[in-house]
Amino acid sequence: MEKYIINGGNKLYGSVKIQAAKNSVLPILAAAVLTDEKVKILNVPQISDVKNMVKILTCLGCKAVYENNNITIDSSSADCYEIPSALAHELRSSVFLLGSVISRFHMAKIAYPGGCDIGLRPVDLHLTGLKRLGVNITEKNGYILCKCDKLFGNEIMLDCPSVGATENIMLAAVKAEGTTVIKNAAREPEIEDLQKFLNCIGAKVSGAGSGTVIIEGVQTLHGCEFLPIPDRIEAGTFLIAAAMCGGEVRAEGVYHENISSLIHKLRENGCKIHIKDDKIILENNRRLASVKTIETQPYPGFPTDLQAQMTALCCICSGQSIITENLFETRFKYVPELRKMGADITVIDRNAFVRGVEKFKGANVIAHDLRGGAALVLAGLAADGRSEVMDISHIDRGYGSFEYKLRNLGADIVRVTV
Ligand code: EPZ
Repeated sequence: MEKYIINGGNKLYGSVKIQAAKNSVLPILAAAVLTDEKVKILNVPQISDVKNMVKILTCLGCKAVYENNNITIDSSSADCYEIPSALAHELRSSVFLLGSVISRFHMAKIAYPGGCDIGLRPVDLHLTGLKRLGVNITEKNGYILCKCDKLFGNEIMLDCPSVGATENIMLAAVKAEGTTVIKNAAREPEIEDLQKFLNCIGAKVSGAGSGTVIIEGVQTLHGCEFLPIPDRIEAGTFLIAAAMCGGEVRAEGVYHENISSLIHKLRENGCKIHIKDDKIILENNRRLASVKTIETQPYPGFPTDLQAQMTALCCICSGQSIITENLFETRFKYVPELRKMGADITVIDRNAFVRGVEKFKGANVIAHDLRGGAALVLAGLAADGRSEVMDISHIDRGYGSFEYKLRNLGADIVRVTV
């Protein structure tokens, strides 16, 4: 197991290059199974979720070649429709493979997917959508078995704008016979990026980002070279780090419009934020004021994936805040750890009630999930004294070279093996 040792109190100065979006790369890797021609994905982050997704693809018979930060996937020899359960339990995005594997083999078998322990995370909307496309689904002994003679287009109304369900149905519908319309679809930028990738390999997808996605089935697909969008959550995490530690940080290679809800909140806190082309510069050298409320919502609302980091910021602002987590049932597991660092925070149901304190105190804390773990690192960086963050494998799932990027900004953080 590995941990971070952090000596807090340094201000952060400098530039940080943002990686390609984890939540765009993962469905795009799943989509590579749809075509027999090579797909090259550029600027791929070195994170364990991507490595595990590539492992699953190789178990299906795909070939994967890493070259610097690029990955080339060749699915021409793919010959297996069963996603290995050990890997499926490792990451949520394994479930996206249902759509692309069923499209390729008309068969698919997967154990219930894993991922961060932030809630129940059912897949009912995925399965209902696939059934509407003609898939017969049985669930037995913890496995989901899918079969179909052929896939045909249909209209699907999602009960909630699920990112994963939208993506899974898009993947299954690309080569279906006829047209599929997904209503109440997720609007996240990663959905638009998946649409762009699918059209790049010859699919006919439109409407992503609007809430209604239309997929006209095609017969053949080809290869392509593709640069996914920047990771808006990584960018947001570094901006919040700068707000908490003070200094001036420039996030480079980022689409500011994809995190406008965060920028709005940080400006409300009193941060100076300048936007220039694909750069966001945050400057802060004083204690910030609390924002009264933060409510996580599906895009374009405040992203649930920045909830923990923003709560950590609220803990050291002057005043009180209420943070409401509307998407996941148990996404406050990091709160007891922040309390060890002196946070004054009470969680009741989906609400965290925060009273700002002057400073965090360094402490030994444990990461329980990806974004909660990142929030603990930010708290350690801003704290007085020394902190240790244990079980940082959770953080490695979504942040590539995290400690290197933070050290380049002046943070005192090292990774050690225990
Ligand atoms: C994706 O997860 C992201 N993961 C999550 O990021 C992100 O938090 C989430 O979307 C919301 O934006 C990836 O893209 C790999 P959902 P996903 O389906 O697809 C309910 C991170 O930190 N729901 O949009 O699992 C569900 O319970 C990760 O990078 C159903 O009820 O999220 C939740 O309450 C964490 N039935 C809500 O929808 C279903 O069949 C949103 O879930 C599916 C979802």
